[in-house]
Amino acid sequence: MSATINSVTSKSLGTLSSFKKSTEGITGITSLGNFRVSLYSESIFRISISLEEHFESLSYSVVANPVEIASEIIDSDSTLQIKTSTTLLTISKNPVRFSFNTLDGKVINEDETFGTSWIGDQVTTYKKLQPDERFIGLGEKTGGLDRRGHAFQNWTTDAYGYGNGTDPLYCSTPFYIGIHNHLLYGIFFDNTHKTFFNFGASNNRFSSFSADAGEMNYYFINGNSVAEIIKQYTHLTGRMEMPPIWSIGYQQCRYSYYPDKEIYSLAKTFREKDIPADVIVLDIHYMDKYKIFTWDSKNFPDPKGLIQHLRDQGFHIVIMCDPGIKVEPGYETYDDGVKKDVFIKYPDGENYQGQVWPGWCHFPDFTNPETREWWATKFQDYVNLGVDGFWNDMNEIATWGHSLPENLEFNFEGNKATTRRGRNLFGFQMARSTYEGTKKLLKGKRPFNLTRSGFSGIQRYAAVWTGDNVSYDEHMLLGVRLVNSIGLTGIAFAGYDAGGFVGDANTKLFARWISIASLSPFFRAHTMINTRDSEPWSYGEEVESICRNYIKFRYQLMPYIYSLFYDASKTGMPVQRSLAINYTHDHRIYDGKYYNQYLFGPSILVAPVESNKELLKIFFPEGEWYDVYTGKVWQGNQETVVESPIHRLPVFIKAGSVLPMQPAAANTSIKQQELILHIYCGKDSSEFLLYMDDGETFDYQNGKSATRTIQMNGAQNKVIVSKSEGDFKSSYKKIKIILHGTNTDSVSVNGKNLEISYHLHSFFAPLEKYDPINEPDSMGEEKVRIATIDYTEANLEISW
Ligand code: GLC
Repeated sequence: MSATINSVTSKSLGTLSSFKKSTEGITGITSLGNFRVSLYSESIFRISISLEEHFESLSYSVVANPVEIASEIIDSDSTLQIKTSTTLLTISKNPVRFSFNTLDGKVINEDETFGTSWIGDQVTTYKKLQPDERFIGLGEKTGGLDRRGHAFQNWTTDAYGYGNGTDPLYCSTPFYIGIHNHLLYGIFFDNTHKTFFNFGASNNRFSSFSADAGEMNYYFINGNSVAEIIKQYTHLTGRMEMPPIWSIGYQQCRYSYYPDKEIYSLAKTFREKDIPADVIVLDIHYMDKYKIFTWDSKNFPDPKGLIQHLRDQGFHIVIMCDPGIKVEPGYETYDDGVKKDVFIKYPDGENYQGQVWPGWCHFPDFTNPETREWWATKFQDYVNLGVDGFWNDMNEIATWGHSLPENLEFNFEGNKATTRRGRNLFGFQMARSTYEGTKKLLKGKRPFNLTRSGFSGIQRYAAVWTGDNVSYDEHMLLGVRLVNSIGLTGIAFAGYDAGGFVGDANTKLFARWISIASLSPFFRAHTMINTRDSEPWSYGEEVESICRNYIKFRYQLMPYIYSLFYDASKTGMPVQRSLAINYTHDHRIYDGKYYNQYLFGPSILVAPVESNKELLKIFFPEGEWYDVYTGKVWQGNQETVVESPIHRLPVFIKAGSVLPMQPAAANTSIKQQELILHIYCGKDSSEFLLYMDDGETFDYQNGKSATRTIQMNGAQNKVIVSKSEGDFKSSYKKIKIILHGTNTDSVSVNGKNLEISYHLHSFFAPLEKYDPINEPDSMGEEKVRIATIDYTEANLEISW
């Protein structure tokens, strides 16, 4: 191997000339450039490699700082090593190449012969493909779960009506996880230029990551599990705050609901039809000719009255916020923006104009701190009207023609950069500005913020949805995979347009899509202008009752789901979990037959399936799994066929777990009286952290929350619910204990026997037949034992 692959076409880092220890690691000078290794924990190594003498210090993504870690530096003739309590980094000196190893010398990840090298401005790091290495992650990317053999690029794009193989889409999250030989690692490439990832596509030597320009700046994360790596990655890029609880209820959207009468009637219909919902979304037609921060006074003469009325019915409003500001002298936002000089410019100083909904527009430069401040204050009028939900759209930046000029100038916190460095960040920084601004204006209440585009770290500011999908089965399943993958990149609050955006759904498709989406983190039905109506009742009575069933099931699960969001806020763990998180080394989960399956939280297995399929081959991971409808127990570690009629999405609960639930209600703000503990007996054990707070303010950050650990000891037939920690007092008055899968006649709490009753239980109401002379179709029933006690914050030991 030559020391310095410096051919006419490609040059690499060369040999080590000297190195220096620093508090956080080392810096080195090579025959061609410079490198720096900084430690962010025992297991996070940041590698910066540059042809310049200085390293980039600005990152929009990373919120952690390097730390002084007890590490050993071992300098020998041919290598330089840094050893922490978990990881050994060996840097060969001639040529300079990086190899990350376990302490007992196994290779986790190592540079390929080409190491880090440049072709013109483009910088690439090549990594040796390890035997049977798999790659997961990269967020919003189409394709299978294992990305081996494929290549991707990150370049935020308005991908209207994208297909099953389209790349890139709206978000860029250059973070992936490599898996081989029971070893795992994560790589986060913190470079906002257009980036390329190759996981052994068209070659059998390397995986690689490249950027069009800028320096090589990546974080290597060593971890024993996918969950641990996500935790470390979100230590670097931050975690979400608790969302307002109403935002995880059902959201009804369309492009667009107007005039206001239609919205009054929509709200009324939800309540009359007993279908829970928390949000009605106003798409672009609430504005005056699509001008942001205005209202169409003809269709919405009294927005305050409308919003107040909806509030009284338990609805929140989410409004569309587009970044394009119409060039129209006399339009306040335009005039003010020009005056305050907040827009993206050409290099000659002229404000850029691109065409989007309102016509020719300027675009705020969200990489300018002053623009972010300016944008943030603009939300005052909305907040005064009672709006607390915001939807950041078209922020890739989307313009007609889809070719944002590359010579535009972004402020970049005063550092100036072109589109080539700024584009991937636009949506991320727009969402940041909207979130930070509205959070301040809402004075202690939590805003809900949704974005289409984002970059690594977006989880700190917004939920993400997967843009303009299409109303067909394949797209429904693609959306599931996208959300599974988005979750692997630290974004727990994600979802897709249920029912499909482009085109018309059909009866079965809509029913199935709502069923699946009810078990996804962000749950919203949406559809495009001039498409068929897509409310839960728009597809006939049978679909209406299927939708009601699943929406109600979600509302019953609210204590569980809300606790999952708490977990995300603490550890970055996604709410919708690709099976690669828990069953990383089981090759079956990567199979195209099963890669749509996921765990919704730790205990619910969802097997999404096309709307017209009545039978589905599924993979049950290890353990035992209860059919949620009938209580039938399936042995794990097997592939088998289950029934999947349109009214029964295959959903299973893990034996040995407890689901904290409550009765369904019209919306999430209704104070609940009864906590229901569904105990799924089995020999396995589990632990779940139940989290509660007021659901709407930031008081939880000052101790006003309550946590209780629910520990299931399956083998001993025992559940321990720890005493409530924290200052929040829940509204519960009773705890109902529902035991699944046992014939016991005795249940005790803290040693005292309880009276038990025997029930035929179902989470779902029977389906009315279209001809009422027929009996309704049961959704399935299960024999359970039920006991009820008064709610107490004290420790509870439940035995049976
Ligand atoms: C974009 C959004 C879509 C929205 C439409 C009109 O296409 O992705 O959700 O309905 O714009 O605002």
